[in-house]
Amino acid sequence: MDLDQLVQTLERLALDAEAALAAAHDAAALEAARVQFAGARSGQLKTLQKEVGTLPADSKRAGYVKFNEVKDRIQAALDAAAARVESGADAAIPAGLDPTLPGVRRRLGHVHPITQTIEHLKQIMARLGFEVVEGPEVEDTWHNFVALNIPEDHPARDPLDNFFLACAGKLADDKGAAARTPAIDPTAPDARLMRSQTSTVQIRVMEKSAPPVRIISLGRVYRPDPPDQTHFPMFHQMEGLWIDRSVTMAQLKSVLRMFATNYLGADVSIRFRPSFFPFTEPSVEADFSWKGKWIEFGGAGMVDPNVLRAVGYDPEEVTGFAFGLGVERLCMGRHRIEDIRDLFRNDVRFLEQF
Ligand code: PHE
Repeated sequence: MDLDQLVQTLERLALDAEAALAAAHDAAALEAARVQFAGARSGQLKTLQKEVGTLPADSKRAGYVKFNEVKDRIQAALDAAAARVESGADAAIPAGLDPTLPGVRRRLGHVHPITQTIEHLKQIMARLGFEVVEGPEVEDTWHNFVALNIPEDHPARDPLDNFFLACAGKLADDKGAAARTPAIDPTAPDARLMRSQTSTVQIRVMEKSAPPVRIISLGRVYRPDPPDQTHFPMFHQMEGLWIDRSVTMAQLKSVLRMFATNYLGADVSIRFRPSFFPFTEPSVEADFSWKGKWIEFGGAGMVDPNVLRAVGYDPEEVTGFAFGLGVERLCMGRHRIEDIRDLFRNDVRFLEQF
């Protein structure tokens, strides 16, 4: 071998040794690589060292320079591999797995269809000038009923139709078994319940701000309905409220029509059916017709003067409308989902379609 060939051979040896040591993930592989490349008796480095000794005198020096460089590189690679194996950094890599291969694609989480719908509804209503506000899910009877003109003997206040909460003060007073199942008195001034409608937020907003108001509020509501295709004990509503000097029923219909065409498309029509809610007069049920089917979306109406008085507004000065639409129904209508329970089963095969 002349000098050029030897330098090339040494360089190849360094590269081979570096690659082999980088791939050594346990003590046995490390030792095998050490013996092969740097073994004191028959390692490849040793063999080439002898080769350098046979070079003609004028190129011996250059040969040893390259030899020492390669020897240092192999020693550095050995040290690095030894430190890695010893630290256990590779211990978690199962045999047969090559961590340098490209990764496997994992399922990525994404936004739940109901949350997507809520975001979409907020965007549409923001374009129509409605500000988004929030209210609490645990409510008192003033905001869920009384201020909304729902008297104490009204069937909507039946404890069997609401999730009343056992209240902390009563728990402390009760003794023994009674303490574990405290009596719930829905007429007590401190009674609390999971709100059964987002209309509570109408009251909260009007109580703390003077007219005009133009808001929507989206959130969860709770009713003890047995789950079936169209019912679930928790669902979401979008409440809307517009109060000003002279807001009319015609404007209510226009706003809901604009909302519906924005959400579903230009081919939607809207109809009002007479209905009754204690907090609106007159009251209607709003239906949207889409792709040949009428779908009920919720209630609406002109805010009852008693509600305006309850929050300190003067019904001679201002009027307004309110609506409460079911978010699940909107989402199901648009995506042709048949069963509300599918939305809450958390089956990724269903959820990942949206
Ligand atoms: N709160 C009513 C419901 O839950 C809907 C509604 C809201 C009706 C506002 C009229 C006005 O059914």
